[in-house]
Order: sequence, then structure tokens, then C-alpha cells
Amino acid sequence: MVLKSVQFDDVYFSAEDGLAETHHVFLKGNDLPARWQGAGEGKARFVVAETGFGTGLNFLATWKLFEETAEAGQALDFISFEKFPLSVAEIGEALLPWMDEFEGRVEAMLALYPLRVPGFHRLVLSERVTLTLVFDDVNEAMAQVERKVDCWFLDGFKPASNPGMWSEAVFVQMARLSKKGARFATFTSAGFVKRGLREVGFDVRKVPGFGSKWAMLVGVKE
Ligand SMILES: C[S@@+](CC[C@H](N)C(=O)[O-])C[C@H]1O[C@@H](n2cnc3c(N)ncnc32)[C@H](O)[C@@H]1O
Repeated sequence: MVLKSVQFDDVYFSAEDGLAETHHVFLKGNDLPARWQGAGEGKARFVVAETGFGTGLNFLATWKLFEETAEAGQALDFISFEKFPLSVAEIGEALLPWMDEFEGRVEAMLALYPLRVPGFHRLVLSERVTLTLVFDDVNEAMAQVERKVDCWFLDGFKPASNPGMWSEAVFVQMARLSKKGARFATFTSAGFVKRGLREVGFDVRKVPGFGSKWAMLVGVKE
């Protein structure tokens, strides 16, 4: 049984295989690790921003892939917005299937997991990897960020049950914060998400989704 939100009637990750979904939708969808290659071309610090931290599964998979593939001296800044933070116990239980896979990273992340109070919480996980957890509504919190982003993971609950997380305010902030050529990937192929991201300047494409989902969206900020 995977963790499910009663409030939003959606799961935190795929019941088929959460980690495989992360790799397909967010990592492959953002052309990682290829996109962070090239430390000498303005990529000494690679910035990922995510809407919906949840259990941290996407972050952990990104952290591991980065340490396996990035060039020496490159750093990863991962910023994630979360309005309803889970507890350490809830996250620990949800991630049980991947404890071995993440080789101590779950324990390291949970050892530094902050109190569940609103605000920006910075977790320095290694010399190269920093996680900034923003415990607040993404609609308000994004406007306070001043970090230019290389790629976006849009992982709110499904747009039909959580439309507030896929708002014009979020898309406008994404455009403001995106570096030239920034990418995004999301599991959804909802029409209003596609149109909203096009309106703020993303070139949006539909590609095959994970498992039984026939389509998802990826794009580049021109
Ligand atoms: C599908 S889950 C994210 C899964 C997560 N990326 C992971 O790796 O486990 C969606 C998350 O969005 C959060 N959320 C819902 N509405 C939000 C909002 N308005 N602002 C910020 N976070 C929100 C939920 O609490 C939930 O943790």
C-alpha cells in the first residue's frame, strides 16, 4: 500500500513503482543527467525546484544520480515547496522499500528534517548537496525566492483534485525564476497546465507517461 492523501484523493507516488516513476517522469523528463554536464558552462551549481516535497523520493533519486554522474566540483541546490509536511515517521515508513537503494541518504535527510513550522529550512547534506525545504503554500512562497532555476519538477497532487497548486501565479513565478533554457517535467497532461505554461513562455510537449499513464508534459523555457 502506498501513501495516499485523503484530502486530495491522490497518491504520493505511483503504486506500480514510485522510484521508476521518478526516473521516467522527472529525471528522464528533464534530460538528466545530461543537463548538468558541463561544469565550465555556468553549471557549477545546478538548481532544481520542485512543487510538492512529499516523502522526498524525487529529491533522494536526484541526489543519488547527481553524486553518481556530476563532475567533481559541481554542486546541487534542490528547492522544494511543501504546504503540508509529513512527519519523520510517515516519510520513514513510505520510503522503506528504498532504504538500501539510497545507501544512507534517507537516514541523513531525516536526521536534519526540520520542525514542521512555516518558512525556509536549509539542509546542508554534503559539501555538494543542499536541500531547501519551503514549508508554505507554493503560491505565496515562490514569490519570495530569488534563485534562478535550471529545471522544475511539477509534482503537486493531480490538477483535478488540487487545482490551486497549478495556478497562473505559480506559472508566472516559474517564468520569472527560470534560467534561459530551463526545463520542466510533470506527470500530468492536463490541458489547462499545458496552456498555462505555454502562456508564460514554455515550449510544451506531450510525451509518453509512466506505466499506465499514456501522456505527460515536458518543456523548455525559450
Ligand atoms: C504527489 S505529492 C509529492 C510527492 C513528492 N514529490 C515525493 O517525492 O514524495 C504532492 C505534494 O504537494 C503538496 N501540496 C499540495 N498542495 C500544495 C500547495 N498549495 N503548496 C505546496 N505544497 C502543496 C502535498 O502536501 C504533497 O506532499
